[in-house]
Amino acid sequence: MRVLMTGAAGQIGRETRAQLKGRYELMRLTDIIDGEPAKAGEDFIRADLTDLAAMERMMAGIDCVVHLGGMSVEPKENQWEQVLSANIVGTHNVFEAARRANVGRVVFASSHHAVGYHRRAHVLDGSALPRPDSFYGVSKVTGEALGRLYADKFGMSVVSLRIGAFRPKPLDARHLSVWISPRDMVELIRCSIEAPKLHYVVAYGMSANTRAFWDNRDAYVLGYRPQDNAEDYAEEVLTKGEPELEGAKPFHGGWYCGWYLGPHGLMID
Ligand SMILES: NC(=O)c1ccc[n+]([C@@H]2O[C@H](COP(=O)([O-])OP(=O)(O)OC[C@H]3O[C@@H](n4cnc5c(N)ncnc54)[C@H](O)[C@@H]3O)[C@@H](O)[C@H]2O)c1
Repeated sequence: MRVLMTGAAGQIGRETRAQLKGRYELMRLTDIIDGEPAKAGEDFIRADLTDLAAMERMMAGIDCVVHLGGMSVEPKENQWEQVLSANIVGTHNVFEAARRANVGRVVFASSHHAVGYHRRAHVLDGSALPRPDSFYGVSKVTGEALGRLYADKFGMSVVSLRIGAFRPKPLDARHLSVWISPRDMVELIRCSIEAPKLHYVVAYGMSANTRAFWDNRDAYVLGYRPQDNAEDYAEEVLTKGEPELEGAKPFHGGWYCGWYLGPHGLMID
């Protein structure tokens, strides 16, 4: 198995690289910034996701792409331009370059912010309709749509991971529902790379949280068996954790829903 990982110098990329070291014949790493120098079984290629030709070059001989690269938060300024180039153009380039090189599978790091404006009263599964809470969320909806297109039209095997909150430990009350621990995150990525034949799957990136917002049975189909539970931190989080924005409390996306409110507040029924 030869794997290409974009966004390799980022938080999830570094953790994945460390935990999966030596597992595959090749782990090709790429990012727009420098990462740790390549070790045995790795190579590191610095490139911009918006450069389709560069993406194409690094697909040679690759079996699976783990696409983590891009703008990973809602930026406060120039939000549309940054999200458009890194996340929308960049994700198109990854899928298109993979198709041209006959790569069998792409694992796309989506986000629960693709469905962030759904209300917490509703448990969501992978079939939840898009309800983005930010331009960032729109870019993840677009990435999922690209994944679905490349699966349906070109027969590519695609997994979209709607990641919750990847942190060493949960920090606020909402995290008790959406947290994913570093070891569970890497295990979910490993399962997504290695699961036998699949067409298109949407799974949520969360640990085995008692207060889960999401029905994650499709992740179990991939073979994912999370080990951690945010509930272990509940007492600490609820007594000392960061308070949630009041207006954002009803929604899956939390504080992303509370940004850039117009004069009328939350424009949602
Ligand atoms: N960390 C989380 O809690 C979380 C939650 C939901 C979704 N995600 C998604 O998972 C992925 C990884 O998250 P992360 O926390 O490791 O993010 P991160 O910001 O730490 O890493 C993203 C990496 O992408 C690289 N990058 C940005 N623009 C690029 C470009 N134009 N060309 C090439 N590389 C570029 C950055 O240099 C960075 O190293 C992201 O796509 C993010 O949206 C993360």
